[in-house]
Amino acid sequence: MKSKDEVLILENISATYDSGETRLPVLKDISLRLHKGEFAALLGPSGSGKSTLLKIAAGLIRPDRGRVLLNGKECTGRVQKVGYMPQQDLLFPWKTLLENAALPLLAAGIEKKEAYGRVRELLPVFGLEGFACYYPHQLSGGMRQRAALLRTVLIESSLLLLDEPFAALDAITRENLQEWLLSVLERFHRAVLFVTHSIDEAIYLADRVYLISQRPGRIVLEQPIELPRPRSRGIITTAPFLNYKELLMKSLQSKA
Ligand SMILES: Nc1ncnc2c1ncn2[C@@H]1O[C@H](COP(=O)(O)OP(=O)(O)OP(=O)(O)O)[C@@H](O)[C@H]1O
Ligand SMILES: [Mg+2]
Repeated sequence: MKSKDEVLILENISATYDSGETRLPVLKDISLRLHKGEFAALLGPSGSGKSTLLKIAAGLIRPDRGRVLLNGKECTGRVQKVGYMPQQDLLFPWKTLLENAALPLLAAGIEKKEAYGRVRELLPVFGLEGFACYYPHQLSGGMRQRAALLRTVLIESSLLLLDEPFAALDAITRENLQEWLLSVLERFHRAVLFVTHSIDEAIYLADRVYLISQRPGRIVLEQPIELPRPRSRGIITTAPFLNYKELLMKSLQSKA
């Protein structure tokens, strides 16, 4: 693929956290490239630095070493306009669900009526119909997470950085949102870097799965997922899917 199609490049990223007297090594020499419309999943043990890597990609943290390029421009350590959804939802407590979700549209200069209309249209898909006027403390954990995801996908950016967006959801809602995310991506061709602990979710959604080792996180496996698209649920019981699953499970045990 041509380099102009590269939405995100992470080049030899290493990072440490200052923890008083010592420095905690968190990421070691991570490189990855994400082209337009590509979906990459990050799998790895808890504490291996996945959330840190997303923060580095979003420009919220400056790595000790390495570079971040967004759409061909270097932006290491500088906050960028990307659709970043942190592991903890960051809804404003004094704003309703509707107001929270509409923020990126209003920030982009879209008129309030239109912005609210677009959010309302998506509420049923996210299982949030009837809750537009609720404040975050009146919603369940899973509902807050869905509201945060809704807000993130409304941000007009070629890149989505999603940190375990479906972790707190029940199985049915999780499957519905996976389907919905795939259909959105087919329409908008956004690149996605997606953190998950679910091997099934990673294989079902991704074009490529990166396996990260224990801290300091290194990429120990880059596995292309060559399953046809559009994908439907039935794929998860097919032989190719199960082969990927076995391979990733074994690699997680032996390499990560
Ligand atoms: N702000 C911080 N200051 C110091 N250490 C931190 C900070 N944030 C994270 N860490 C440490 O960095 C390591 C990696 O954390 P990170 O949140 O990136 O892991 P993760 O792979 O996302 O884990 P999980 O799967 O549990 O979400 C952990 O050991 C954590 O304690
Ligand atoms: Mg994390």
